[in-house]
Amino acid sequence: MRKLVLIAVSFMLLLIASFCLLFFLLHAGTDVTDTKLAGASFSVDSYGAKGDGQSDDSQAFLKAWNDACGSAKGTPTLFVPKGKAYLFQPVKLKGPCKPASISVQQIQGNIIAPESVDAWKWSDDDKDAWIRFSGINGLVINGGGQIDGQGASWWKCGSDGNCPRPTALHFHSCQNLQLSDLTHINSPKNHISINTCNDTHISNLHFIAPEDSPNTDGIDISASSNVFIHNCKIETGDDCVAINTGSSFINISDVACGPGHGISIGSLGEHGESAEVEEIYVRNCNFTGTQNGARIKTWEGGSGYARKITFEDITLIAPKNPIIIDQHYDPLPAATNNSAVKVSDVTYRRVYGTSAVENAIKLDCSNSVGCTNIVLEDINITSSVLGKDTYAFCNNAHGRSSSSTPNVTCLD
Ligand SMILES: *[C@@H]1O[C@H](CO)[C@@H](O)[C@H](O)[C@H]1NC(C)=O
Ligand SMILES: *[C@@H]1O[C@H](CO)[C@@H](O)[C@H](O)[C@H]1NC(C)=O
Ligand SMILES: *[C@@H]1O[C@H](CO)[C@@H](O)[C@H](O)[C@H]1NC(C)=O
Ligand SMILES: *[C@@H]1O[C@H](CO)[C@@H](O)[C@H](O)[C@H]1NC(C)=O
Ligand SMILES: *[C@@H]1O[C@H](CO)[C@@H](O)[C@H](O)[C@H]1NC(C)=O
Ligand SMILES: *[C@@H]1O[C@H](CO)[C@@H](O)[C@H](O)[C@H]1NC(C)=O
Repeated sequence: MRKLVLIAVSFMLLLIASFCLLFFLLHAGTDVTDTKLAGASFSVDSYGAKGDGQSDDSQAFLKAWNDACGSAKGTPTLFVPKGKAYLFQPVKLKGPCKPASISVQQIQGNIIAPESVDAWKWSDDDKDAWIRFSGINGLVINGGGQIDGQGASWWKCGSDGNCPRPTALHFHSCQNLQLSDLTHINSPKNHISINTCNDTHISNLHFIAPEDSPNTDGIDISASSNVFIHNCKIETGDDCVAINTGSSFINISDVACGPGHGISIGSLGEHGESAEVEEIYVRNCNFTGTQNGARIKTWEGGSGYARKITFEDITLIAPKNPIIIDQHYDPLPAATNNSAVKVSDVTYRRVYGTSAVENAIKLDCSNSVGCTNIVLEDINITSSVLGKDTYAFCNNAHGRSSSSTPNVTCLD
């Protein structure tokens, strides 16, 4: 009997020991992966958002944001639930945030702007953007939802200064930003602008705005480096992507552009400003019915440079200016100072397809500065119009070409 009790006690002790060990192991596991664990969830609905498409939900969003941003542990998630439409007035979301430089935002539902220009309520004089994110590290925005800038009433009011139109989403000073799996429609102006951001990863975004909507660029980049744009479909009224001064190490791949105005470097050097753009790689992109394809545009009178730029493996389906360097963008009167942004080290490689205009290659460089080391390799651009030929135009362009249809005699 005594023996039996002893056995039972030892068995129980063993059991307790195993549990302790198991608990310890599990606990050790959590400690190791703690920073990667999901933190608290913040749904805009629990902050009073209605999602009825009428009530102003931006304050609920702001409160949820402030709590997520201040949340101490793990990766907080801010939810915008599926199946509803959340009306947002212009809103500003600011960092720095507490969580170990990460903060996740899941937009599954639809976010919409007020429908008419008069219904927009601004909190201060800064009317640049509808939703502005600034000073946030490790911001991730995804979720499959749609962001609708309701731009139609803005497009009518022109760009004459009486009615400066806002950007839909503006990111300023955001490090390690990730945007994916969202649809952006009908921004009053450009859909997304990235300014002073390092390390931005953009993928699987779809942009939709009418072909004739003014300045509705897909993505504008300025003063930023290490921006990666991959696998996006951009159908808008202006540039699919525009790369402006202060930008370097920008990789763009697998983007379907059109309708739109192409992938543009610039415009650079407006009002005599100095521009600096370098290390731009555009690969595996399609231009379908666009006003331009691979474009570099600079104003007269600027200075600085646009260099180390490559466009390769490009498919053209009847864009208007498949390959264009335009250093006489909006020319100033001839009397003004004729300096220019220096364009050099630009390569176009494996560019195939059709052009809607006969002048398929236009290298219109500055008369005073000229472009150097412009390289065309393996180009075949035929006319989309039966029986028409294509040709290349050069002005002060220098470099070389091999296997190019049309031939580019100025570079031979
Ligand atoms: C971007 O990165 C560079 C080099 O890593 C750094 O010098 C610069 O300060 C960063 N910019 C911002 C806005 O943090
Ligand atoms: C960007 O493109 C360049 C040129 O193709 C390549 O060397 C570089 O590795 C790319 N960077 C990334 C992160 O894909
Ligand atoms: C570009 O067009 C080709 C041919 O139509 C297609 O195979 C390819 O998937 C397209 N690429 C993109 C990025 O849409
Ligand atoms: C042209 O204008 C730029 C910018 O205003 C200035 O920096 C430059 O010195 C001017 N060049 C000449 C030759 O006047
Ligand atoms: C250029 O493309 C056209 C149309 O696809 C084709 O007929 C022609 O043979 C190609 N030319 C060269 C030099 O590859
Ligand atoms: C270049 O193309 C033009 C127009 O197609 C043709 O007239 C000319 O002979 C070509 N020049 C060379 C050097 O192939």
